[in-house]
Amino acid sequence: MFPLTTYLTDLGPLEIGFPLIVLLTLILRVTKHSHLSKKESKDSSSKAQTLVFDPLGFRNITPCKELPLHQRPDWPRYWKPGKFQMTMALRKLDINNWFKYDELFDSEHKQKVTMATAPDAENYVDYLDGIDDAVVELLDTVVTYVTKRYPNMVRVDDEYVYIDHLQEKYRIREPYDLHPLAVAGLLIMDDLYVLKKGHKDRYTLRGAFLACPSGWRLQQRIGWQLHQIHDPVPMWKEKLRKSMERFFVNLQPSKAIQRNNLFIQPVGQIFHVVPFEENLKYESIDQVHIRTELQSLTRLPRSEASIFTVRTYLTPMSDLRHEPEQLEALWDHTRNFPPDTANYKCHHLWGDVFEQFCQDVLGKRDTEIASNEEKTKPTVPTSQCPAGF
Ligand code: HEM
Repeated sequence: MFPLTTYLTDLGPLEIGFPLIVLLTLILRVTKHSHLSKKESKDSSSKAQTLVFDPLGFRNITPCKELPLHQRPDWPRYWKPGKFQMTMALRKLDINNWFKYDELFDSEHKQKVTMATAPDAENYVDYLDGIDDAVVELLDTVVTYVTKRYPNMVRVDDEYVYIDHLQEKYRIREPYDLHPLAVAGLLIMDDLYVLKKGHKDRYTLRGAFLACPSGWRLQQRIGWQLHQIHDPVPMWKEKLRKSMERFFVNLQPSKAIQRNNLFIQPVGQIFHVVPFEENLKYESIDQVHIRTELQSLTRLPRSEASIFTVRTYLTPMSDLRHEPEQLEALWDHTRNFPPDTANYKCHHLWGDVFEQFCQDVLGKRDTEIASNEEKTKPTVPTSQCPAGF
C-alpha cells in the first residue's frame, strides 16, 4: 500500500481535486450527522422526560407479587403519652404505604358496592360537579396505583378495571357504569374526599365516597369549606386553622402527607353516622372500640384537586389487654386530654370503664410513663408487603 503523500504527488491537479472534494464532502457529512445526532438525542431525552413525568412518585412503587388478602389489618397505634399537643402531625407519605389491602377487603368492599348502587347512593357517594377533570384524574390515578402495586389482584385494559377474585369489572372510560369517584372508592379500602379551591383560596369539599363516617352524614357537610368542617374541633381555630389553610394552598403532588386520627367509639361498626355524644354512658369495656384512621392528603398534578383519603380501622379496646405498653400509653394519652378535648372525644361516656380496665389489666392506679417514653413509641403501619411476598 502507498503512503497518501506519495500517491498525491504522483497525481495531476484534476486527479488531486476530485478525491479532495470527496474527502471534504465526507468530513462535512460526518460533522453534520454528529450535530443531528446531538439534536436527536436532546429530543429523545426530552421525550423520555415527558414519559417519566411522575410527580406522585409512582416509579418508586414496589409491586406486591401475591394477593394481600390474607394479611391481618395493620392498624396504627400512634398515640403518644404525655402532654396533649394540638398539631397537624403530618409526615411524608411513603408511596408504598398509600392504599393497602388486607383480609377485610372483601367484606368492606361488598358493603361499599351496596352503598354505591343503593337508591339513596348520594348518602354514601356524591359529587357536586358532575364528571369533571378532577374525578377522571382521580380514577386514573387510583387505577394506575393499584394495578402497579397489586398486579395480581387488580388489572386493567383500555376500558375496564378488573378485580378478578371477585369476578367484578368496572368501566374506566365514558360511558361509565358508575361515577368515577364511586369506582375509585370501590378499588381501595379508604374513603375518598375531593376538595377544590374556591373563593379566597379556601378549599371546599366537592364530594366524597364516605363508607366509614365517624358520627356524621355526607349530605350534612358536602359543599362545606375546610374551616366549617373543623369548627367542632376544640383548639382548631386557634392552633391549626392558619397553618392548615396555608398547607392546603402550598400542597404539591410530590409532597403528599400522611397523618392519624383517633376516636373511641361505642359500637363495633365502621359505618357510624350517629354523633358519638348521643350515645349512653358505656357499662362494659366490651362496648368500647378504638377507631384509628390513617389519612393522606395529596394534590393531583393536572386538575390540581386535593385528594384526602381515610382508611379506618376498628379494634375492640379489650384487645389491648395483650399489648400492655400500648394500653398504658393510651391511658396516659387520654388522661392528658384538656377538658374541651376530653368533652369532644366523649371521655365522659367511656372514661370510667376504660379507667377500670386499665387499672385491672396493668395492676396499678396510675401510669408510670413520663419517665419511660422510649418503651411506648407510637407504631404506624409499614409499607411492607405481607410476609413472604
Ligand atoms: C392537613 C389536613 C388535616 C388536618 C391536620 C386535620 C385535622 C383534624 C383534627 C385534629 C381533627 C379532630 C379529630 C380528633 O382529634 O379526634 C379533625 C377532625 C375532622 N376532620 Fe380533619 N384534618 C385535615 C384534613 C381534613 C380534610 C381534608 C377533611 C375533609 C373533608 C377533614 C375532615 C374532618 C372531619 C369530618 C373531622 C371530624 C369533625 C367533627 O368532629 O365533626 N379533615 N381533623
